[in-house]
Amino acid sequence: MNEVTIIGLGPMGQAMAKTYLNNGYKVSLWNRTKSKADNLVKEGCFYDRSITEVIKRSQLILVSLTNYDVFWSILENLKTDLNGKVIVNLSSGTPQEAREVSQWIIQQGGSFLSAGIMVPPSLVGKDDPNSYTFYSGPKKLFEQYQADLAVLTTTDYKGEDVGLAMLYYQAMLNILYTSMTGVIQSYALLKAGKINAIDFEPYTHEFLKFLPTLIQQANIAAEIDTKNYDGSQQNLKMMLAGAKHVTETAKEANIDFSVPKSIEALFQNTVNDGFGGNSTASIFETLYANGD
Ligand SMILES: NC(=O)c1ccc[n+]([C@@H]2O[C@H](COP(=O)([O-])OP(=O)(O)OC[C@H]3O[C@@H](n4cnc5c(N)ncnc54)[C@H](OP(=O)(O)O)[C@@H]3O)[C@@H](O)[C@H]2O)c1
Repeated sequence: MNEVTIIGLGPMGQAMAKTYLNNGYKVSLWNRTKSKADNLVKEGCFYDRSITEVIKRSQLILVSLTNYDVFWSILENLKTDLNGKVIVNLSSGTPQEAREVSQWIIQQGGSFLSAGIMVPPSLVGKDDPNSYTFYSGPKKLFEQYQADLAVLTTTDYKGEDVGLAMLYYQAMLNILYTSMTGVIQSYALLKAGKINAIDFEPYTHEFLKFLPTLIQQANIAAEIDTKNYDGSQQNLKMMLAGAKHVTETAKEANIDFSVPKSIEALFQNTVNDGFGGNSTASIFETLYANGD
């Protein structure tokens, strides 16, 4: 029988546990708050209050915690070596945090993969084209456990450097956070004009469907890689004027304008750096000025 230990039972860890259970795995659990394991235990999982004991129960250990600090605080209580254990951390963190944990686990005799899961708990274990997880670490190890990991989502292996999964994951989160914040900021602007968010929602949906076309036409990725920022259709000076109007509209409405102001400042700095006649993608040059 296949078996797995899951450490962490937030919404994600619970969805993972259920999925493995439904796929016939023997599932062992650890969570600081025991009550979160109660329903899963009723359904057939095993819970142990001791992190040392629960780690002994399976070779494959999946971790789903808020962050790497929590992971370290749990590892500090471990009273066993990790000989032969394979730890896959699906918690959010930085690439460097993943490398540091990996090093420590290898010193304890275990092996480590880092993973960034790209779906909400409701899509774990579902056959959905948007459901995938980034993995990085030793390729042979990944291949050995790929079938077990694919029970959760499609797998997308990014390379031997264990930090890579977190690099891809944080890059995706950045798109998520900035775009969601943009939508919510617009709803705040509208609310100040007595327009309900729900009434604007169709415009949001239609615009977000159109956004991939806009991004492709703007040729952003290729412009960044070639450093050729074509401002013939839209230049940054024009975009800066527009960005100022978003900030001023938020100010007029007496609502928080920190997000549009920071975008305006970035555009202004790039214009000051000499890119006023170039495309919006040229803000990359200001963002990346100290990058290498
Ligand atoms: N939820 C999502 O939509 C989603 C989507 C993609 C990726 N993720 C990632 O998946 C990971 C887990 O997500 P989640 O939604 O399940 O998050 P969460 O609710 O933040 O996870 C909480 C888990 O961390 C534990 N924890 C937090 N602080 C602790 C501490 N000081 N000591 C011991 N345990 C502690 C909690 O234990 P208690 O139960 O005892 O509090 C629980 O097991 C995160 O890294 C998140 O970025 C989540």
